[in-house]
Amino acid sequence: MTFDPKIELHLHLEGAAPPEFVGRLADEKKMRLDGVFNEAGSYDYKDFEGFLQVYERATEVLKTPEDYARLTRAVLEHSVEQGVIYTEAFLSPDFCGGRDLTAWREYMHAMQEAAGAVPGIEMRGIVTCIRHFGPDKARETARCAAETAGDFITGFGIGGNEGLFAPGDFVWAYDCAREAGLGLTAHAGEFGGPESVRSALDDLGVSRIGHGVRAVEDEALIDRLAEDGIVLEVCPGSNVALGVYANIAAHPIEKLRERGVKVTVSTDDPPFFHTTMREEYEALERTFGWDGEAFRQINRTAAEAAFCDDATRADLL
Ligand code: ADE
Ligand code: ZN
Repeated sequence: MTFDPKIELHLHLEGAAPPEFVGRLADEKKMRLDGVFNEAGSYDYKDFEGFLQVYERATEVLKTPEDYARLTRAVLEHSVEQGVIYTEAFLSPDFCGGRDLTAWREYMHAMQEAAGAVPGIEMRGIVTCIRHFGPDKARETARCAAETAGDFITGFGIGGNEGLFAPGDFVWAYDCAREAGLGLTAHAGEFGGPESVRSALDDLGVSRIGHGVRAVEDEALIDRLAEDGIVLEVCPGSNVALGVYANIAAHPIEKLRERGVKVTVSTDDPPFFHTTMREEYEALERTFGWDGEAFRQINRTAAEAAFCDDATRADLL
């Protein structure tokens, strides 16, 4: 038994698709998925860029709003089994209708309806642009986000390859999302160093950072994160699987927490990284001796930082 209930703030919906789910859809659609799975039936990649390629190839089986509804149900049912009561999922208009607003609305409604039908968990969507697709596509994504901001779509973010483009290239998209009242987060400090976290804060004005763990390399930045109450969506198993750190013992989550940085715990793309929320909690307990109070604290932090209305937040606190 791990600490329950859990709150997860950083989960990519497509990245949470189990290989069996993707394989079944490929069979139904008579699609060949070359190079996606290894012989053991797991996702097959060697490094971050390989991971992003396999992720996008696997996503090609998700063709219709109904496919996304099925995925939403499967992912949330699994989250409930993990003791998760609230999750924020990154949703990508790039994959759901190619950033066409009419199509995106259909996908969004299908996911919202599916999420509402799973008992025991609340879901909110963070519309996410993809950094390596570039700033022009991010603008269209931000428009989709702004036009559908509401009870379900409550946040805006950016994922993808941190090696391409800079946060400053996405200012227009973030301004558009901010004006629509969306909560703001950005992947930074995962493969990029502390400077990537600084520019996500300075250029994009986010309140949360996806990962952000490489901020640990810069003492002044650690102090700034702690003083400004910036919340890190930390995904330890993801960082180890992608080689950012050799193992959990080498992961900086404990140092950041000790220095007063607000950390939360999520899984990112769990089947890709062979992890679950329960396994993340077990690893933190085993490695750093986290006790009930430590887990209570990270879940309180997550509830306070969640992109949801105050009534929902009150239920989580
Ligand atoms: N998209 C899905 N998972 C991601 C990750 N860990 N980093 C950046 N973009 C992603
Ligand atoms: Zn992520």
